Amino acid sequence: MVNIGVLVSGSGTNLQSIIDAIEAGRCDASIKIVVSNKADAFALERAKKHGIATAVIRVKDFPEREAFDAEVLRILREHGVELVVLAGFMRIISKVLLDGYHMKIMNIHPSLLPSFPGLEVQKAALDYGVKFSGCTVHFVDNGLDSGPIIIQAVVPVKDEDTAESLSRRILIEEHRIYPQAIQLFSEGRIEIRGRRVFIRNSQPPASSLTNPLITI
Ligand code: GRF
Repeated sequence: MVNIGVLVSGSGTNLQSIIDAIEAGRCDASIKIVVSNKADAFALERAKKHGIATAVIRVKDFPEREAFDAEVLRILREHGVELVVLAGFMRIISKVLLDGYHMKIMNIHPSLLPSFPGLEVQKAALDYGVKFSGCTVHFVDNGLDSGPIIIQAVVPVKDEDTAESLSRRILIEEHRIYPQAIQLFSEGRIEIRGRRVFIRNSQPPASSLTNPLITI
């Protein structure tokens, strides 16, 4: 069992997937606090509906990044958080929080990193013309979407895709792999060696993929 704190800014579908996995017994974690930088984030409603404590930290009250992150750190510690889970948290994390939870902050990103870090990445993947995209759960370091990779899930890009349809396909995988990554952490199966993350007792994937599938 691991005590987690989830940081959000928006709709919170990833938060919901974690709540659902915990309630279904697929993720041995307890959400101690959901912290938002936006008072109107729908994620807060999701948390409250499940009886989970929430906190809002307004940027106007803590305009400097370090002061904001110190307040986040204080709240996380106050709630006994062991693992910090970023779920659509739209802020860069400073050294204050990185040092407070060294390699104990996870993020999910809707591309196959290191391709397409940053924002609006589903559109960027479509515009580039990649045949596969997906999502990445990684530990957070001091770069942009650059920390050690824990799990990736791959989805095909289809000819008729829009950024919205590709995002929906990727989101289904996000909701699958984020609770899994938390479960692996909870089981103590994650080992970080430099940039590489090893999962003890894991299975290799079934096979390679080709898109389009050409059978000549
Ligand atoms: C997801 O696409 C996630 O990969 C990215 O922000 C989005 C958050 O969506 N980091 P939600 O708030 O979990 O619905």
